[in-house]
Parts: sequence; structure tokens; C-alpha cells
Amino acid sequence: MADEEIMIKADNLVKIYKTEDIEVMALQGLDLTVQKGELLAIIGNSGSGKSTFLNMIGGLDRPTAGRLHVAGHDLFKMTEKELVVYKRDAVGFVWQNNARNLLPYLTALENIMMPMELKKEGERKERALQLLDTVGLSHRTDSRLSQLSGGEQQRIAIAIALANRPSLLLADEPTGSVDRKTADYIFDIFRNLNKEMGQTILIVTHDVTLSKKVKRVVAIRDGKISSERILKERYADVSHTAIDWSTEETQEEYSIVDKVGRVQIPHDLLEKLALDSNKVKVTMDEGKILIEKPGK
Ligand SMILES: Nc1ncnc2c1ncn2[C@@H]1O[C@H](COP(=O)(O)OP(=O)(O)OP(=O)(O)O)[C@@H](O)[C@H]1O
Ligand SMILES: [Mg+2]
Repeated sequence: MADEEIMIKADNLVKIYKTEDIEVMALQGLDLTVQKGELLAIIGNSGSGKSTFLNMIGGLDRPTAGRLHVAGHDLFKMTEKELVVYKRDAVGFVWQNNARNLLPYLTALENIMMPMELKKEGERKERALQLLDTVGLSHRTDSRLSQLSGGEQQRIAIAIALANRPSLLLADEPTGSVDRKTADYIFDIFRNLNKEMGQTILIVTHDVTLSKKVKRVVAIRDGKISSERILKERYADVSHTAIDWSTEETQEEYSIVDKVGRVQIPHDLLEKLALDSNKVKVTMDEGKILIEKPGK
């Protein structure tokens, strides 16, 4: 893959949080490459390191070791000053709880104009009106944020994140606190942005139905990418609205081999093997690698 096609490249990325008495290794040598123009979902159990990874990419916190390049920037080499510009222009962030970047006493329009303080008034307004249309809220232009529903506020948060035309849009559980219908609507906004504008988007989600509609889903386990699911070719055009995404076998699942040859075996398969020690027998058979319970 040529460098100019790559949006994110994480190599052996490590993040250690140190508090007074304990150290938590939230990322344990994570490898991931994301191409420009991808819409990627990240799934994983609570505490697996999803938000930590997103925060590293978004420049909200510094990684501890490894390598991390985003949109041509080396996140380890950036000065504090460069980080401020990076966070304003290169990445947009949407959280589950959007209170962080919304001002309740300003109107929808004014909220979206806020992050564009460096641009001319006319330009800011024009862009904000365009974004209100993108998120389907043109009819709410002059409403105060406090008068909007949670789902509408979340859509305003998406417009704010897009205001400065970031190369990369990051969303941490953006549909975590809205109902099914609103979640689908918000997901459609992301999908259209990706399809029509080629916007690169990373979404952390617990929503299995939504994650299945994305071409590529990576799972994080204990601070590493453990597996990856790719949507099968015939489902890749996600406009198939008639599919029941919660049950359909639409995806192929892969385990990830890291640089030193380690693979995480899916829990359900490992359970079926019913090991009574931590040893397995690994052999090659007709081009396949077999993992077996050791013989007696
Ligand atoms: N600021 C912090 N200080 C200390 N430990 C932290 C900090 N942030 C996260 N952690 C720890 O790092 C690990 C990964 O946390 P993270 O928030 O990335 O998980 P997550 O996958 O986003 O979980 P969830 O699905 O619950 O949001 C957890 O063990 C967490 O307790
Ligand atoms: Mg999280």
C-alpha cells in the first residue's frame, strides 16, 4: 500500500496509564493500518482499549511506545503547538456524551460556526448551513441546543466535528445513548459521508447490527487487534436495506497474526478444544496449520 493511500498506521502501539500506585497497559502492541476512504468499526469488550486507541489517534493523549502516523503526521514527534492545530484541522471527534463540544445557550447554527473561528463570517455561516443540511437539521437552524432532543444534539455534534473539513472523523460510541431509529439515522449520516465525500471514519461501537453493516470491523482484545471481519462482496454495497443484519451470515471472520507470529484463538473455538493445560500441539497438514490438544 502506497504511503499516500494510508490514513492511519499504528505499529506496536503501547499506552501505559500510570496512577499513584498502579500501571495499566491499555494498549499492548497494537498494529493497524487504515486506508484513506475507509469506514471502519472498532468493537471490543469494556476496558479493551477502544477509547484509548481513539484518543491516541485524535491527539488527546500521548502514546507511550511504538509508532503512530495519522494523515501524514507522526504523533510521537508533534510539539504541543502542532497538536493544537492537528486537533482543530486534521481530526474531528464525536463522543457518546456530546456535552463536551456543545454550548446549550447558543443556536444550532452558532454551535457549528464556533470551531471555524479562523474563517470569515460569511464562509463560516455558509459552511454551517451546509452541514445542518448534511445532518438533516436545516429546520432547526435557529433553535437553541437546549431545545433539541438527544439525537438531534448528537447530529449537531457530528456537524461540529466536520466543520473544519478534517481528514479523519473519529466517533466513540456515537449511538450509545440514542434509540434504535435514531442510531440507524446517525449511522446513515456516517455512511453517506463516507460514500459521497470519501470521508475516512472510525467508529467505536457496541451496536452489533451497525457494526455488521460496515465493510471492515476490527475487534480489540486486551489492547491488541485480535480479529477482523470483512463484509462479503455481495453485501458490500450497504444499501441492501432488506437484509436482517443481526442474523445474516454476511461477514467473513479472520484472526490476526502479529509480527512475531502470535494468533489469538477465538474464545468459542478454544473452549471446544477443552484444554487441561496451556499447551497445544501445532502441526502442518496439507498446507493447513492444525492446533490440537496434546495426546495422552
Ligand atoms: N486515564 C486513565 N487512567 C488510568 N487508566 C485508564 C485511563 N483511561 C483508561 N484506563 C484504563 O485503560 C483500559 C482501557 O480503557 P478504555 O477506556 O480504552 O476501554 P474501552 O475499550 O473504551 O472500554 P468501554 O467499552 O467501557 O468504553 C482500562 O483498563 C481502563 O481502566
Ligand atoms: Mg470507551
